[in-house]
Amino acid sequence: MNIKDAITDRMSVRSYLEKPISKETLTNILDTARWAPSGTNTQPWKVIVTQGKSKQAISSAFLNAHKKGIKTNPDYDYYPTEWAEPFKSRRFECGMDLYKALSIGREDKEKREAAALANYDFFGAPVSIFFFIDKVMGKGSWVDMGMFIQSVMLAARQYGLGSCPQASTSDYPDIVRDILDVSDQYALICGLSLGYPNDESPVNQYRTRRESVESFTSWAD
Ligand SMILES: Cc1cc2nc3c(=O)[nH]c(=O)nc-3n(C[C@H](O)[C@H](O)[C@H](O)COP(=O)(O)O)c2cc1C
Repeated sequence: MNIKDAITDRMSVRSYLEKPISKETLTNILDTARWAPSGTNTQPWKVIVTQGKSKQAISSAFLNAHKKGIKTNPDYDYYPTEWAEPFKSRRFECGMDLYKALSIGREDKEKREAAALANYDFFGAPVSIFFFIDKVMGKGSWVDMGMFIQSVMLAARQYGLGSCPQASTSDYPDIVRDILDVSDQYALICGLSLGYPNDESPVNQYRTRRESVESFTSWAD
């Protein structure tokens, strides 16, 4: 697979086959991603691969916390509290396209909630990889983490695997740290669902759009 195809064919996969991923494949993916750049080569990533019991325990604990109405307390603000254009419209379109793919109507709150809660089940993926960063590190290292996570997603394409990065899986970081025995010195960035895509599923049939190069680029002399 060439680099352009790996980048442009990657999409967020929200339905997976039950097929497991071998440890060898998972190791190979991380062995590729570890070549991601980082400021002064600090390599700030801490990774925990969950599957089987650990993944199930996290999923159950998330759903339980949600059911009890426990307030989410992520380690960082992913989104602004006040949305502004053009981000507001893009976000809206993203949500609408997802509901359309799932045939969920505007007023169907129950189905919308079920779709949101599918995040806590990792969309049925056999693996979820959790990414942490030592809180001692600065904002720059969070940039490194983004590059690392994208590298994992692209490396996974080599093996026919799909993925979905999920900020929603960092809603309850204490649950994840507790189950995975991680010190609270580490901030939870997000989880990444990983698995073989269910190509038949309607939710995997749509693609998000992108703005044109001209819309976000100026050329300085
Ligand atoms: C850090 C990060 C967190 C995300 N969190 C979620 C999430 O919690 N749930 C979800 O369904 N998609 C999530 N997404 C996927 C985005 O919605 C998706 O990347 C975007 O709509 C572009 O679509 P594409 O990935 O299919 O190209 C996240 C993406 C990123 C990069």
